[in-house]
Amino acid sequence: MKKLILIAATAGIIGGAPILAEAAPSDDLKAFRSFFQKKFPNVKLDTYKDGIYSLDADRRAAWEEFEDFAPPYEDGVELGKKLFNTPFKNGKSYASCFDNGGIGIRQNYPKFDSKTGDVVTLEGAINACRKANGEKPYKWKKGKLAAVSAYMGYTSRGKKMNVTIDSDPRSMAMYERGKKHFYAKRGQLNFSCADCHVYNSGSMVRGNLLSPALGQSTHFPVWRKKWQKKSEAKGKGGPTAGFGTLHRRYGGCNKQVRAKPFKAQSTEYKALEYFHQYMSNGLVVNAPGLRQ
Ligand code: HEC
Repeated sequence: MKKLILIAATAGIIGGAPILAEAAPSDDLKAFRSFFQKKFPNVKLDTYKDGIYSLDADRRAAWEEFEDFAPPYEDGVELGKKLFNTPFKNGKSYASCFDNGGIGIRQNYPKFDSKTGDVVTLEGAINACRKANGEKPYKWKKGKLAAVSAYMGYTSRGKKMNVTIDSDPRSMAMYERGKKHFYAKRGQLNFSCADCHVYNSGSMVRGNLLSPALGQSTHFPVWRKKWQKKSEAKGKGGPTAGFGTLHRRYGGCNKQVRAKPFKAQSTEYKALEYFHQYMSNGLVVNAPGLRQ
């Protein structure tokens, strides 16, 4: 870790923060993109959705082979589809809760809800739909919730991320809170998300190539081999074994710097997702992704 800490400490001085405090979100997005485009002049904008595979040709080739040849998340997406189309006990279904019957809409989440003043993630909307129809909400982070979300993401593949910040000050406040989380140093290692995924993206840390934060959220939920192994070791294999939501990943990244993770769907992570997904606006949805 020593080398990385050194790089992180100097990055602020040499590189400068790519985002100014209190700028309009659209200006933030421009600055965010142009930072990466300068850092990686050979990477095409539309490949950032592929995380580390946008940066490394060898890893990309191996990953593409898996993606093309029976990706392990296929059964999970099928299960998600089945759950999505199975009516609730009251006869209604998920389709009744979403625009366009829930098909091809992933790119619009998270969304600001002016009635409650809150930000609603796709997973939040799925569980809210269950509750509104008298069903028990699913557990956050993995399992059936991730399967339904993965299916909804799958039907949205190719649509451009289109998160909007409302003129309502509560919407802007959530965006600013998420941005603050992203740039704030935390944990015993005193690292911000930006230290790893902006300034040091493309560098190695403990054998891992660090992905750029641009496009980092377009492919969630993700199927990770690590999560699959973990579930299988507990005797919980099956079609959802490798799935995890974006908030599951946030928790893992907070833990990496020895910070206490927030709860999935906490206001803090919803705000972080609002900012993080907004930064990927214009890139296409490619959920679910396949990762190590
Ligand atoms: C100490 C470095 C470090 C910090 C700090 C860190 N991460 Fe990560 N993160 C990683 C590593 C390593 C991976 C796995 C390799 C990769 O895809 O970057 C990862 C992966 C991810 C992924 C999955 C990428 C993909 O393509 O599926 C997301 C999303 C993510 N991090 C978000 C965050 C956010 C948001 C924060 C701040 C709360 C954060 N990370 C803080 C090291 C870090």
